Amino acid sequence: MNYKIAVLDGDGIGPEICAGAIKVLEKTAKKFGFGLSFSHYPIGGCAIDKTGVPLPQSTVEGCLASDSVLLGAVGGYKWDSLPADIRPEKGLLGIRKALGLYSNIRPAKLWDSLVGASPLKSEVVNGGIEIIIVRELIGGIYFGERGKSEENGNEFAWDTEKYSVPEIERITRVACELASKRSKKIISVDKANVLETSRLWRKTVHAYAQKHYPNITVEDMLVDNAAMQIVKNPAQFDVVVTSNLFGDILSDEAAQVTGSIGMLASSSLGDGTRGLYEPIHGSAPDIAGKDIANPIATILAAAMMLRDSFSQIEAHAAIENAVQRVLGQGYRTADIMQEGCKRVSGSEMAALIAKAV
Ligand code: IPM
Ligand code: MN
Repeated sequence: MNYKIAVLDGDGIGPEICAGAIKVLEKTAKKFGFGLSFSHYPIGGCAIDKTGVPLPQSTVEGCLASDSVLLGAVGGYKWDSLPADIRPEKGLLGIRKALGLYSNIRPAKLWDSLVGASPLKSEVVNGGIEIIIVRELIGGIYFGERGKSEENGNEFAWDTEKYSVPEIERITRVACELASKRSKKIISVDKANVLETSRLWRKTVHAYAQKHYPNITVEDMLVDNAAMQIVKNPAQFDVVVTSNLFGDILSDEAAQVTGSIGMLASSSLGDGTRGLYEPIHGSAPDIAGKDIANPIATILAAAMMLRDSFSQIEAHAAIENAVQRVLGQGYRTADIMQEGCKRVSGSEMAALIAKAV
């Protein structure tokens, strides 16, 4: 087997964390006897600098010609004052849409060796944390009609949220599939006491799950309450399914309660096996080029790619175990440094994990 991977390094620490992940991927491929080839394409701020747009057509074509996509991060102060349609973020939204990646899976887990990193009291996290947020990624208010205008001399702006039954059904299916292999329960998060889209969301999630996954329990939670429950009792959550905007917000909250956002990876998939895999964290321009960024989230994203796009189950497990082992040996990058541990640079961390594979 030979897999073609499109690498979108992006901005800030993007290139260095992708380099770390590639190092680990190459080692893993060699060990498990499959081939990997990497082609790099620009996205985000570096693409704006090079071509004037955050998502050049050649990048979209490169991704479409690949078996899967690895992304670093996009954005930085340098491009913050550009108009909305040529901001780096637009590149990310554009590639998700162009590849039809409607399902974004963001697991937030508390690693055994990093329990102390959670900002929550130990009695709150004692039950462990493993929240898997299944976020709808190419619909809702992110992609609805929007505009700005003026009325009676006052400037105004508007955004709209729209969801169709098929859009809600396909993301419900992803959540139910995941839950069938886990707790057999999903929590669907909405704002059905106010929003029409949420009422349709709630009705559709229940109807679809009941019909196709009768053994899955569906619970509803209003998004404001969910925000509160994540810090009050995170152990009650397993698979959470929600809209694009709510998923954006809650996944950052869930990531933060684990205390180690530098460790968390995410996958975005559509109907096929080609996905986009990236760390949850951003481009951290303040530490770019210093070799201190933690590459583990990107390494774990690459591992998810091996499992979810290429069905290389053992190779995925080998990388996760390697991460566990290296952390267990006390190696830490700056962001997860603890007393008595050995501090290493980003590239040293990647090399240690590659060796442990
Ligand atoms: C994320 C990011 C993006 C989003 C931004 C950069 C457009 O916050 O992946 O969560 O809002 O989806
Ligand atoms: Mn976000």
